[in-house]
Amino acid sequence: MGVPVTDPYHRGSQDIQPHRYPAPLDALEVALTDDVLVVHGGTPLEGRIRVRGAKNLVSKAMVAALLGDSPSRLYDLPKIRDVEVVRGLLGVHGVKVTDGDEDGALVLDPANVESASTDQINVHAGSSRIPILFCGPLLHRLGHAFIPDLGGCHIGPRPIDFHLQALREFGATVDKQPEGLHLSAPNGLHGTKFALPYPSVGATEQVLLTAVMAEGVTELRNAAVEPEIVDLICVLQKMGAIIKVHTDRVIEIQGVPKLHGYSHRPIPDRIEAASWAAAALATRGHVEVLGAEQADMMTFLNIFRSVGGEYEVTDARPPRLNDPGQEGGIRFWHPGGELKSVALETDVHPGFMTDWQQPLVVALTQARGLSIVHETVYEQRLGYTEALNSMGANIQIYRDCLGGTPCRFGRRDFKHSAVIAGPSKLHAADLVIPDLRAGFSHLIAALAAEGTSRVYGVDLINRGYEDFEAKLADLGAHVERP
Ligand code: EPU
Repeated sequence: MGVPVTDPYHRGSQDIQPHRYPAPLDALEVALTDDVLVVHGGTPLEGRIRVRGAKNLVSKAMVAALLGDSPSRLYDLPKIRDVEVVRGLLGVHGVKVTDGDEDGALVLDPANVESASTDQINVHAGSSRIPILFCGPLLHRLGHAFIPDLGGCHIGPRPIDFHLQALREFGATVDKQPEGLHLSAPNGLHGTKFALPYPSVGATEQVLLTAVMAEGVTELRNAAVEPEIVDLICVLQKMGAIIKVHTDRVIEIQGVPKLHGYSHRPIPDRIEAASWAAAALATRGHVEVLGAEQADMMTFLNIFRSVGGEYEVTDARPPRLNDPGQEGGIRFWHPGGELKSVALETDVHPGFMTDWQQPLVVALTQARGLSIVHETVYEQRLGYTEALNSMGANIQIYRDCLGGTPCRFGRRDFKHSAVIAGPSKLHAADLVIPDLRAGFSHLIAALAAEGTSRVYGVDLINRGYEDFEAKLADLGAHVERP
């Protein structure tokens, strides 16, 4: 019998079952749920919001602080659940985390790193995927590590086989137990030559966080090179690491015996910025996203323009005498008229991010013609389209690799391509949020639809979107807690 897919440490295509998206709530459940947002749709979002440091960088930079022998300072952190989880996990390992001298700043002091009990660590079980990145730093600091059951979004099986393979290459031993992973490095960690089967973001980060203090040189081939990874490399370099990024996805790391604390202002959250851009387009609105960075969003901006959306990049101007300066950002708007259909496929950087896909698909329901989306990063990230169809969208999902190059999922039984026929008039519905990005797309759909929708499970959105309810209010959305 195969190992059930709920075992996050197991990899085997025969064991990967289709992920189930939440069914609509029945009347009793509805009555019992208070985690609901009532959305009166049909009003364009108009106004200005600001994005802070990227969720998918700040959590990793916090883990990197474990490697230093002096305090680190991280700025502009968003107030989101993932940051709290990592803060808690660092805390039980003896890292003193305190608020810094400005809003959104943290000081992380690793002077007294210590072992934590399984019970202390397990408090954070199932809450995030970041704990897997504690392996290398804890092995360096303590010689052993315990990693609880992982959480994160339910967007497919999300195995960690590349992580474990890499850690073994460095010389770690991994003991999988039902309560989690026990790791040790009886002979220390040593540099290695290693090629990832796929340019995984997390596995690349795992290698970086382990190799920087491993003895000797590590060469990682087929590495992910997302802007968040480059920013993590900047953090590690500030700490004293020696890392070369070669062409063709090769990263070379020369291990050093000692690292110190860093001071870092992270890159802005390009996923959140694109989510608000998609919301502006879907609701025929106009949203300025302060902090959004053009260079990190080029692929998104190209698609946004191809669909018929307009944007303008505002460059930042530093403050001078008699001039308070200006924060940079990007203004996104619907210029009126009809949107155009597009064909796109998600991919690793510099491709179209998988996390941009769900919010944009809502806008694509309003485009004339057939749009095609080929999801090549996660095998089960289109199930949320069922909810959009319940609101009047016309989206069919297919097992074939449509409209792009054949991907890893083409010969397997995953519906990973979508054809969106539009424009469709969206109407209100009761929706249940399945995961973070799909959840935001549900919210956008409810905002774009005529009538009053009830969106259940909205608290999940707080995992990755800071103050989203306040931002919705700033943009003139008609939403309320019942
Ligand atoms: N994969 C494996 N084995 C592994 C690791 C990954 O098969 O050991 C596969 C995955 O199953 C997936 C692909 O490789 O099919 C890519 O996964 P990757 O490791 O790149 O993803 P991740 O590190 O788990 C991060 C972000 C995701 C984002 C992806 C892709 C964080 C905390 N999460 O996940 O963000 O979608 O990279 O860019 O950084 C989100 O923010 O909502 C989110 C899901």
